[in-house]
Amino acid sequence: MTNKTYYDEAREIHDWITQLRRQLHRFPELMYEEVKTSELVRQTLDELGILYRHPMAKTGLVASLGNGQGPCVALRADMDALPIHEEADVSFRSEYDGKMHACGHDCHTAMLLGAARLLKQREAEINGTVKLIFQPAEEGGAGGQLMRDEGALQNPAVQRIFGLHVWPQLPTQSIGSRAGVFLAASAFLEMTVRGRGGHAAMPHLTIDPVSVAAKIISELQTIVSRELDPLDSGVVSIAAIHGGDACNVIPPEVRMKGTVRALSMDVLMHLQQRVREISHNIAEAHRCELEIAFPGNDYPPTVNDGECWNVAKELAAELNSDEQVAELPAVMGGEDFAYYTEEVPGCFVAIGVRNEEQGATFGLHHPKFKVDEDALPLGTALHVAFAMKSLNDLM
Ligand code: NI
Repeated sequence: MTNKTYYDEAREIHDWITQLRRQLHRFPELMYEEVKTSELVRQTLDELGILYRHPMAKTGLVASLGNGQGPCVALRADMDALPIHEEADVSFRSEYDGKMHACGHDCHTAMLLGAARLLKQREAEINGTVKLIFQPAEEGGAGGQLMRDEGALQNPAVQRIFGLHVWPQLPTQSIGSRAGVFLAASAFLEMTVRGRGGHAAMPHLTIDPVSVAAKIISELQTIVSRELDPLDSGVVSIAAIHGGDACNVIPPEVRMKGTVRALSMDVLMHLQQRVREISHNIAEAHRCELEIAFPGNDYPPTVNDGECWNVAKELAAELNSDEQVAELPAVMGGEDFAYYTEEVPGCFVAIGVRNEEQGATFGLHHPKFKVDEDALPLGTALHVAFAMKSLNDLM
């Protein structure tokens, strides 16, 4: 038997995987609310006769296959959706207004369920344990961290981990990733500039937070351009600004939101510190008060182990063809898979879902985001092949 067999087997259950994916797609749930999603996953595992530990991280679970002992390899999928109203032209469009699987986590969950089914068929050949991690709250809730803290990587100890993410820049049938840092360390940012509102015709009687907010925004742009080593990478983006509502009224405050990114925690922390200092000092110079916070979780960078990426690459080339394997540059997107790779060597791989003919060209988090479902069997086969090959390597 060759690794290619896994792809043949995955293609045989293409419809089954697609049905699951579409069902997940129709009922998207936001972070830590993945109740129905988790139920569907558990019901499918029950039907396959696969045992799992539940609940973990509120709605998450870890299924296990094999002999319950080492060596142990984990495969991971995230389950949460986004607060986006779907505009994609598909028959299985989201049935929940304002919620959508716009980051493909429905595909990730379905591909891993496909792997569960194939692995169950050959459970006798599993030399050790394969854990299937179905986690909540990737989109800012650090579900991966909570799963890790609740023991997803323990008993038996996971020695390698593998995860997939659909990638609309890559054509279907191809995959890509890189050794080392693949995805960024990231943090969210919220800021309120408080002045004193009043008549816009008499600015001297007000303390204008609008002009101060404008200064802060432009000044923050000098952190990356003037302070960061040009060979390091960083992003400071103010993505939302709200203040005032009339032509002739200076508002009392302006609220801003944004994000800070870097390829290492050191640089991320430095950027955060400088955003704080610059914003505070500008506000103070202009008699405003400033409140600034980095709410939620600072995701660490996702770092791929070179050996794991080699394994994934070779398998992908064997399943499909070498021409379909891309070495990608690092990306400033963040991903909580990082919490697993902080602890065990692993690999996060992009799987192509782009298909111009199908109109599957929109980016992640776009209301018209669409995937070419022909990618699903390849993802399932990669999961299975990565687990089986890694268990043999680790023996
Ligand atoms: Ni995602």
